[in-house]
Amino acid sequence: MFCSIILSVLITTLVHESNAQLSSSFYSSTCPNVSSIVRSVVQQALQSDPRIGASLTRLHFHDCFVNGCDASVLLDQGGNITLSEKGAVPNNNSARGFDVVDKIKSAVENSCPGVVSCADILALAAEASVSLGGGPSWNVVLGRRDGVIANQSGANNSIPTPFESLANITAKFAAVGLNITDLVALSSAHTFGRAQCRFFNQRLFNWSGTGSPDPTLSPSYVASLQQRCPQNGSSGTTLNNLDPSSPDTFDNNYFSNLINNRGLLQTDQELFSSNNTVTISLVNSFAGNQTAFFEAFVQSMINMANISPLTAPQGQIRSNCRKLN
Ligand code: HEM
Ligand SMILES: *[C@@H]1O[C@H](CO)[C@@H](O)[C@H](O)[C@H]1NC(C)=O
Ligand SMILES: *[C@@H]1O[C@H](CO)[C@@H](O)[C@H](O)[C@H]1NC(C)=O
Ligand SMILES: *[C@@H]1O[C@H](CO)[C@@H](O)[C@H](O)[C@H]1NC(C)=O
Ligand SMILES: *[C@@H]1O[C@H](CO)[C@@H](O)[C@H](O)[C@H]1NC(C)=O
Ligand SMILES: *[C@@H]1O[C@H](CO)[C@@H](O)[C@H](O)[C@H]1NC(C)=O
Ligand SMILES: *[C@@H]1O[C@H](CO)[C@@H](O)[C@H](O)[C@H]1NC(C)=O
Ligand SMILES: *[C@@H]1O[C@H](CO)[C@@H](O)[C@H](O)[C@H]1NC(C)=O
Ligand SMILES: *[C@@H]1O[C@H](CO)[C@@H](O)[C@H](O)[C@H]1NC(C)=O
Ligand SMILES: *[C@@H]1O[C@H](CO)[C@@H](O)[C@H](O)[C@H]1NC(C)=O
Ligand SMILES: *[C@@H]1O[C@H](CO)[C@@H](O)[C@H](O)[C@H]1NC(C)=O
Ligand SMILES: *[C@@H]1O[C@H](CO)[C@@H](O)[C@H](O)[C@H]1NC(C)=O
Repeated sequence: MFCSIILSVLITTLVHESNAQLSSSFYSSTCPNVSSIVRSVVQQALQSDPRIGASLTRLHFHDCFVNGCDASVLLDQGGNITLSEKGAVPNNNSARGFDVVDKIKSAVENSCPGVVSCADILALAAEASVSLGGGPSWNVVLGRRDGVIANQSGANNSIPTPFESLANITAKFAAVGLNITDLVALSSAHTFGRAQCRFFNQRLFNWSGTGSPDPTLSPSYVASLQQRCPQNGSSGTTLNNLDPSSPDTFDNNYFSNLINNRGLLQTDQELFSSNNTVTISLVNSFAGNQTAFFEAFVQSMINMANISPLTAPQGQIRSNCRKLN
């Protein structure tokens, strides 16, 4: 008992110390302009691809949930990387934005060679994307280093799928230290970006063997989704706006959509329709107060970006985000 208290104090101290090495001024002498460099490349990419901010935000999430925020998701398969995270089920033919990460990395290397990690670039790119999309801005703490392994089975198993129960999703967030408030706040990233039909068409025709669509989907929304994702259509890869009311804007419409039975993924709608009083009241409160929502979102993005960072002397600063040095 006494030993386990000492152990847990020790562990808490270690975790806090490793996070304490992250700081918003980490590059203030070595790369003072890093945030604006990242932001300007994201802004430029948005000109030709209004979806890219969403894609970059998702990459940061998929990075952090697997072995912490260590840029492991960016590693190409080959050499020591025998099974990439890119090839894992949640990412294969789905995660995108890797070319824009390369552009950001080149721009950063041009100003400050060998200094800024790819993991920090993902954290900064997510903040820039949210803010350029109309969402909140915040100070990103920095100083993460890049990992030297990829964990494909970790990516298969730790990243939530859109077919799970609220209880299972909650458990996957808890496994990385995030609670239900974080789950509801962060799910709102589905206020921008797209989803392929294959991730929700189980809801449209014969949900759970009932012979009918998912009753938690509004009938008019079902009708329009059935047109876009026909039952016997050859392809499940057609893209759909995750937030039909404001597809490229970061706002709290995600939550009013849920209240109106217009959550696109099963896991989105479950936040409001699973009879969980905690998630329902958070959805109502975020739908009714964008300021409260933005504050909670920022806090939860900071929490997510703090998952198990590598700090010196662990890891490395990759010179190419796709490869180990
Ligand atoms: C709660 C569990 C979550 C599940 C089950 C989930 C699942 C998905 C799925 C299936 C897609 C569509 C991918 C495709 O069609 O290729 C998607 C897209 C997206 N997800 Fe999530 N997600 C979750 C949480 C999050 C979180 C926490 C974030 C970020 C903070 C996030 C950000 C995004 C964004 C921005 C997109 C659009 C990406 C794009 O257009 O390229 N998601 N998500
Ligand atoms: C910082 O970077 C931005 C975007 O690349 C650029 O416009 C600005 O001039 C830079 N400022 C300094 C002090 O280098
Ligand atoms: C690749 O793996 C070999 C053998 O385990 C190891 O010696 C080497 O340091 C690794 N290379 C990198 C870049 O991690
Ligand atoms: C990823 O998808 C491609 C098809 O586009 C497939 O050939 C490949 O086997 C998939 N990779 C994995 C690891 O499942
Ligand atoms: C990840 O899941 C896919 C699909 O089930 C499987 O083919 C692949 O082998 C898994 N990867 C690992 C490392 O378990
Ligand atoms: C891979 O990820 C799983 C689940 O997130 C974790 O339990 C495991 O320790 C990781 N493996 C390595 C080698 O880091
Ligand atoms: C929820 O998790 C349990 C235990 O891991 C698993 O057996 C079950 O299939 C999952 N349910 C869904 C709907 O994914
Ligand atoms: C989740 O953690 C935050 C601190 O980051 C706390 O303010 C919030 O009350 C917690 N939510 C729940 C449901 O416990
Ligand atoms: C719906 O699915 C169930 C179970 O898979 C099947 O028995 C039933 O025939 C299907 N109903 C329709 C209308 O396709
Ligand atoms: C789709 O296929 C099922 C069985 O494969 C069939 O019963 C149904 O009539 C088809 N629906 C349409 C709209 O073609
Ligand atoms: C939630 O509660 C309502 C009313 O009690 C019930 O009809 C519905 O089936 C429940 N939904 C779930 C997902 O349990
Ligand atoms: C909205 O939330 C903010 C921040 O939590 C709070 O200060 C404000 O009073 C709330 N506004 C209303 C109308 O409840």
